[in-house]
Amino acid sequence: MKAFILTEPTGPAGLQATELPTPTLAAGQVLLRVKAISINPVDVKTTEGKALYGSLNEQSPLIPGWDVAGVIEAVAPDVTTFRPGDQAFGMINFPGHGQAYAELVAAPAAHLVRKAANISFAEAAAATLAPLTAWQGLVTRAQVQAGQRVLVHAAAGGVGHYAVQLAKHLGAHVIGTASGGKVDFVRGLGADEVIDYQQQPFEQAIAPVDVVLDTVAGDTQLRSLNVLKPGGQLVSILGLTPDTPARAAERNVTAQGMLVNSNEAGMQQVADLLASGALRSHVSLTVPFAELPKALEQVQTGHTQGKVVVTL
Ligand SMILES: NC(=O)c1ccc[n+]([C@@H]2O[C@H](COP(=O)([O-])OP(=O)(O)OC[C@H]3O[C@@H](n4cnc5c(N)ncnc54)[C@H](OP(=O)(O)O)[C@@H]3O)[C@@H](O)[C@H]2O)c1
Repeated sequence: MKAFILTEPTGPAGLQATELPTPTLAAGQVLLRVKAISINPVDVKTTEGKALYGSLNEQSPLIPGWDVAGVIEAVAPDVTTFRPGDQAFGMINFPGHGQAYAELVAAPAAHLVRKAANISFAEAAAATLAPLTAWQGLVTRAQVQAGQRVLVHAAAGGVGHYAVQLAKHLGAHVIGTASGGKVDFVRGLGADEVIDYQQQPFEQAIAPVDVVLDTVAGDTQLRSLNVLKPGGQLVSILGLTPDTPARAAERNVTAQGMLVNSNEAGMQQVADLLASGALRSHVSLTVPFAELPKALEQVQTGHTQGKVVVTL
């Protein structure tokens, strides 16, 4: 099979196309013929050697990638949930190595869900790590309730654009931050208020909120503590700054970091919301498999709108 491996941690340029044997299936796994792969900032960080989850040598040859959609080609004898021919998608083995940049992937059946016929492979591949992060942040951690006020940072990005839709679906009043050219996009996702964070400090434009989903970190995270109501919560998908716990305690709010996990709840709910149209994937760029590094270069800019997907 064709695959991309990381030969040196020099960014997207460190990825090389190669031929590898078809993976063999372990118990609980299915063999997925990949039709689409989505790219996240963590993919880029992995190629830069910043998030390798085990060294290059230990993993050699290292096939990066986590987000896939495709067709089941074979199943291990103990798998009863899928059959050859089923269309499925999911985030494989995160944290860990999903080995998704390949024509064929051995994936734990438990990390995949069925793809509805009305959703394309590209839309399904996009709706994996990013909306799962939004689900695990807003539902599992923050337990957002109808009527609450929720601030989503980087609301036009991969995680943010799903988080806005999900928070609206949960019945929240949603406020997003985005730069000027993306304000209309975020409003179109259903956000009640959109703040151009480059035109004014967001905290001056927002009445107090119950929940902040922090996708930016640093100073944005610290300033976000000031817009929380007493008892409010900040969930950061980038970890907490050293000053955040003490400042949160002073303000009588809570702050926690989180890392999305393939073994936690949310993927089936994401699939159901996608099938019903309550959640939509906005794919701003698709790149053919042979040019996969170009997809990472786009994500590396930090200014992606929605998702970037590689198609096979
Ligand atoms: N812990 C976890 O489990 C987890 C999971 C997923 C992602 N992450 C991390 O979370 C971050 C976001 O991920 P993503 O997939 O959403 O990234 P992304 O798709 O690359 O996000 C790009 C968006 O960020 C916006 N942005 C950049 N700086 C901003 C700022 N100061 N305020 C508001 N918006 C800003 C950009 O909008 P403009 O172009 O308008 O600036 C762009 O639309 C990444 O660092 C990623 O590694 C962590």
